[in-house]
Amino acid sequence: VKTFLVTGAAGFIGAAVARYLVGKGNEVVTVDNLSTGYKEAIPTGVEFYEGNCQDEYLINQLEKYDFEAIFHIAGQSSGEISFDNPIYDLQTNTQSTLLLLKLALKTKCTKFIYASTMSVYGDAEKLPVNESMNIEPKSFYAVGKIASEHYMRIYQNYGIRSSALRLFNVYGPGQNLENLRQGMISIYLAQAINNRHIIVKGPKERFRDFVFIDDVVNAFILACENLKDIFCIYNVCTGIKATVEEVINIIKNNLDFPIDIIYKGSTPGDQFGIYGDASLFKRATGWQPRVNLEEGLKKMIAWAINR
Ligand SMILES: NC(=O)c1ccc[n+]([C@@H]2O[C@H](COP(=O)([O-])OP(=O)(O)OC[C@H]3O[C@@H](n4cnc5c(N)ncnc54)[C@H](O)[C@@H]3O)[C@@H](O)[C@H]2O)c1
Repeated sequence: VKTFLVTGAAGFIGAAVARYLVGKGNEVVTVDNLSTGYKEAIPTGVEFYEGNCQDEYLINQLEKYDFEAIFHIAGQSSGEISFDNPIYDLQTNTQSTLLLLKLALKTKCTKFIYASTMSVYGDAEKLPVNESMNIEPKSFYAVGKIASEHYMRIYQNYGIRSSALRLFNVYGPGQNLENLRQGMISIYLAQAINNRHIIVKGPKERFRDFVFIDDVVNAFILACENLKDIFCIYNVCTGIKATVEEVINIIKNNLDFPIDIIYKGSTPGDQFGIYGDASLFKRATGWQPRVNLEEGLKKMIAWAINR
């Protein structure tokens, strides 16, 4: 039996990765501070340490494990929120990475996979973005994620084999519908269901690259199975751009009650439009996104309505 550390398993992506690993007969340990996650969301069988990944005392307690791999997924995941308290963002998203890399080194765990973000690109001059393009992060959140990537690159020199997955907009069942400052689809869907209207902050022509949760779980697993001797950064995206308007129309068409759409304001640090090229990741691991937006949104809406 192998043991994995999956940080953030009370959250959307961490819980899904942990559930997959437990389902395959592995042991999973998680650290989560329940800031946006829920204890009840932690999959059955996962050993839970409640606390901060930037807490050295807590992380030191994990030295007793012989981890096969570390998936560092816990984090403050909103660009918007990072403007409220940039220092907290640095601690939660970057200091945590450094401590976990140290843990990996100390415990001779040589596999490390990190949840980075497409936010690092900022307003890309050329689309779709690929990993060799210039980056210009527009939020404290994105700056912290980039710093984490560089820490990983340096730790590769000590034998910690690692990859950073630059996740684009992840969506699907299990996403937090209470946090209205994080996740474009979850924000719209929560408003549509709870208030029968959607407030759109910014123009409807904005676009994103939406990737379904099951495809993201698969991305983490394949990344772990295909680590290289050099630190790798991969886009995890579909390569398909979907506008805000398209998303809203799919939501509208799949609800059996009418909703109003209200356009007002904008979000600081928000990117206008971005979509990505995942060919590097596909070549390196054989990964393919399998669920298209319409299909994925239908699954998510069914889940959200029946919760
Ligand atoms: N959802 C997306 O579209 C997306 C896109 C790009 C990157 N990411 C990254 O993926 C990761 C997971 O995102 P998610 O959508 O599952 O968010 P989420 O908020 O559902 O999950 C994050 C989990 O981490 C926990 N957490 C936060 N800070 C912590 C800390 N310092 N110590 C311990 N636990 C902590 C939270 O309580 C929560 O359970 C984040 O690092 C995020 O930046 C997400």
